[in-house]
Amino acid sequence: MSDSKKELLAGRVALVTGGGQGIGEACGRILAEYGAKVILADLNEKTAQAVADSLKAQGSEAAAMMFDVADFPHIREKVAQARSIFGRIDILVNVAGIAGTFSIEEITFESWDRMMDIDLKSMFFVSQAVFEIMKEQRYGKMVHMSSLAGQRGGRSADASYAIAKAGALNLSMGFALAGAEYHITSNAVCPGNILTPMGKTMSWSHVDPKTYIPLGRYGCAEDIAKAVLFYASDLSDYVTGDSMKVNGGIYM
Ligand SMILES: NC(=O)c1ccc[n+]([C@@H]2O[C@H](COP(=O)([O-])OP(=O)(O)OC[C@H]3O[C@@H](n4cnc5c(N)ncnc54)[C@H](O)[C@@H]3O)[C@@H](O)[C@H]2O)c1
Repeated sequence: MSDSKKELLAGRVALVTGGGQGIGEACGRILAEYGAKVILADLNEKTAQAVADSLKAQGSEAAAMMFDVADFPHIREKVAQARSIFGRIDILVNVAGIAGTFSIEEITFESWDRMMDIDLKSMFFVSQAVFEIMKEQRYGKMVHMSSLAGQRGGRSADASYAIAKAGALNLSMGFALAGAEYHITSNAVCPGNILTPMGKTMSWSHVDPKTYIPLGRYGCAEDIAKAVLFYASDLSDYVTGDSMKVNGGIYM
């Protein structure tokens, strides 16, 4: 790997929630490839540790931690723990999340609360805790994982998921506005149908992508990570409160 590639994020520290597999893992890998020190935070410490170990084996600086982003009373403690690993947090990538596939009739108070807790409330409060650190640093790049469902409603994914992901788009703008004076940018990525462990559980994964995706294939986690790299790096310095559709053209 050329050193010039590593210069893009040299000296930067990234915290990636949901970094143990799928899109979060790919984000961790690409950020490390471009020179960042990466903390993979996940409910599943084993998978996060495996990703960190493989990054370290490739010569990157990486660490793993168990972090349940929906354990609200402990979020600040966990973010402080993450900061203590490499001394700062320059990049936050909010990826941790669950899918929902209930019909409108099946959604209950309990399923609604679980969805909002894991896919939206956690994103806000993790961002809020990291925001304090980024303000002190007067620098930060936040990237939030929304979804195609957050833009146009849930089809395979359910309405509560789509509502949480629509919230993620607005949340991103809230941090963009509050962070601007501190050189903190906040942007969102809206993946389409991405073949990850979560994607493989969705009904669309049984449909031939050539029949409905203009680019003729499902996305892979790396397709999303490339968009995250743009928002996480100084390539996007004048971009904030934005969102990127990464969906092979489904939106057309
Ligand atoms: N796969 C898709 O097609 C797709 C499309 C649009 C948006 N997304 C979003 O992208 C994100 C990642 O999706 P994916 O496909 O990689 O999913 P995935 O299920 O493959 O991976 C999600 C990761 O998040 C972790 N996680 C779940 N709950 C957590 C919690 N409470 N605390 C910490 N970690 C937790 C899991 O352990 C897992 O490692 C999600 O927010 C998802 O909604 C995915």
